[in-house]
This record gives sequence, structure tokens and C-alpha cells, in this order.
Amino acid sequence: RTLDSLGSLTGKRVLVRCDLNVPLKDGVITDDGRVRASLATINALVTQGARVILLSHLGRPDGAPDPQYSLEPVALRLSELLGKPVAFAGDTVGVSARETVDSLADGDVALLENLRFNAAETSKNEDERASFAAQLAEFGDAFVSDGFGVVHRKQASVYELASALPSAAGLLIAAELDVLEKLTENPARPYTVVLGGSKVSDKLGVIGHLLPKVDTLLIGGGMLFTFLAAQGFRVGGSLLESDQIDTVKGYLAEAKERGIRIVLPTDVVVASKFGADAEHTITSAESIEETPFGQTGLGLDIGPETGAEFARIIAESKTVFWNGPMGVFELAPFAEGTRAVAEALTRVDGLGVVGGGDSAAAVRALGFSDDQFGHISTGGGASLEFLEGKRLPGLEVLGW
Ligand code: 3PG
Repeated sequence: RTLDSLGSLTGKRVLVRCDLNVPLKDGVITDDGRVRASLATINALVTQGARVILLSHLGRPDGAPDPQYSLEPVALRLSELLGKPVAFAGDTVGVSARETVDSLADGDVALLENLRFNAAETSKNEDERASFAAQLAEFGDAFVSDGFGVVHRKQASVYELASALPSAAGLLIAAELDVLEKLTENPARPYTVVLGGSKVSDKLGVIGHLLPKVDTLLIGGGMLFTFLAAQGFRVGGSLLESDQIDTVKGYLAEAKERGIRIVLPTDVVVASKFGADAEHTITSAESIEETPFGQTGLGLDIGPETGAEFARIIAESKTVFWNGPMGVFELAPFAEGTRAVAEALTRVDGLGVVGGGDSAAAVRALGFSDDQFGHISTGGGASLEFLEGKRLPGLEVLGW
């Protein structure tokens, strides 16, 4: 169900679930990509004269108000980008939200406070979620689901709310699916997936499902050390999920059997500590504990030899999907692996997709512009689960 299916929305109160989960540092947005990606739908509704009520989560607060996760800075940024005021409600279903919604005129925009300040949003209990969704639904005449980054979550504002009001997918979701379907339906080959990032156990689960679909899998980021450990290498103080080593061994065996390449780093950057001022050195993947930092050395990036090899494989691919930075790109000494992958992705002769908030933030922080890539997806976990072929609750409920 697309936006048009809702008919005329002039004068109607339209709840829009966005994914405005942006990175913040000291209250300042460090990458506003998700805010900008939300503008198309918001503008389309404003132009129609709808009363637009935006909903989002930010981070993972504990189900109670927590000022460090307030969406207020996002309301300010939205207002700058839209060129009009965005009213901000200091709660989600309380007095402030009610007053804010009631004060809207046709074409006005409001943002309610972080949905995850209410524990019912992410509750495992369906009834709790449904009753929170029913409270939200009182503020609207229609619902537009446009937070692509969160469609893999069965949460009140993503799933139950869509059944509580006439609902449709927004323009961002439609645009994301247009591109991602190209990756699932007959991708041009060779098809390479590059995985990195720090949410290690999340990503490890994905690999089993992706293996049968791709030609080559490149492994960087935090999870690479679990792969190295599975090969019997010692990884010093690097991130390691010991309980996943057997699973990873299974993936390596399966890949071998199926003739799929899993390419692991041959060198890494090892540091004395976690920090931009850490001493660091490049070493081979087998000798992480043989640097001057011994058993406490931390692997914080793939090494230059690996970066060059990954870049070569990416440049020779016709379809590439990349999720997750190769190293701690926020710290200059550990950004080169991510830069090498990003740079190669801009040269793909085919479709090169950057997936996820962190990877998108990384390429922008490293000075690349969005138009250098085939597509930058706003969804990390969501795009990966889509590529795995999983049914995503937030799409299923809309009939997609
Ligand atoms: C994301 O950053 O991937 C989305 O905003 C979803 O956030 P979550 O992983 O905290 O549900």
C-alpha cells in the first residue's frame, strides 16, 4: 500500500513513523542522513495540507525518559531542513503530545518525543504494544510507515500501529525496496557482500542466510577476530565472541563446500589501547599477540594489504552490498580500512550499495558524498534481513 492509496490527506492528521535514529555527540547530530531521507514523505504530506505528526525512536533507552536520548535536536534539524517550524512534544502520549497535536494547522509538522521512553513500544507482550499503539492512533486519522531502518522490528509504532489506522508505506520505504529488490532478484554477478561493524552477534547470524546467495563474503570490523580465532589464531585483547567460534567454524566449512569465498583479513592494525592517541602498528593476522603490546594489543582496523585486496575484489564485482565499517573509523588512525572499501565501492561497474546508519555515517565522515554510491540505505539490520530473504514485520503488516 503506497501513499496514494490513502486518498486525499488534506486537513487529516497523519502519523508518520520515521527512523530518525541519528548519531549524536554531546547533543549535536553528527550525521543527519536519516533526517534528510525522511524529507520526501514529509514534504509530500505538507504539500497536500496534512497535519503531520512524526514518530521515531532514538538509541536504546531503558523504557523511561532519558535526556541523552531526546529527539529535540532532531526537531531543530528537521525544522532547518524543511524551512518551517517543527513543533516538539516533550512526551509521546501524554499532555504535551495531546496539546501539540491539537495545535496543528493544515500543513504543520510536529515531532513527538522518543517512542522508546515508553517501555510498551518495544515490549515482548503483544497486548502492551497494542495498547500503546491504540493511544498513539488517537492522534491520527491515517498512518504512514516510513522508517525503513526499523521495519525488521516488531514494535508498537512499526507493527501494531499499522493495523490500528488506515495505513501505507511512505516514499522512503518504496525507494529503498526498489533498490534492494535488485539485490535479491537475480543480482548481476559476481555478487560480493562486505560485512563489518561492531554488532558482532547480530551480524554472525546473518552470514548463514547470506552464504547461499553470494559469490564472495569479505569480513572486517569487530567480527573478524572471531573468524581469526576460529582459524586458531590468537587475537590479544581484540573483540571476541568465544561462544560463536564453533558457529563460525561451521560457516567456514559450509562456504568451502559450496564453493563460496569467505575472505578474511591477512593483516590488521593493532593498538596499545582504544583511543586516537594510542600507539599502533600493522601486523599479520597470525601474529596479533607478537606486537610490542603483547596479549593486550587491540585490533582496531583491517591492515593495508587487506584493504587493497578487498578493494580489488569489490572493483571486480558487479553487485556489492556493504554493511558495517571495517574498523574504528571515528578515530583517524583506524579509518583507512573503511576508506579503502568506500573508495572501491565508488568505482563498482554495477550496483554498489552502502547499508546502515553506521556505514552511511562513515562514508560521509570520510568525505565521500552520497551521489558517489549506487545507493545508501538508511537501514542496517533491516537491509541485511531483507537480503537474507526474511519477512520483515513492518512490511508484512502493510501487505508488502
Ligand atoms: C538502526 O539504527 O539500525 C535502526 O534505527 C534500528 O535501531 P535498533 O537496532 O536499536 O532497533
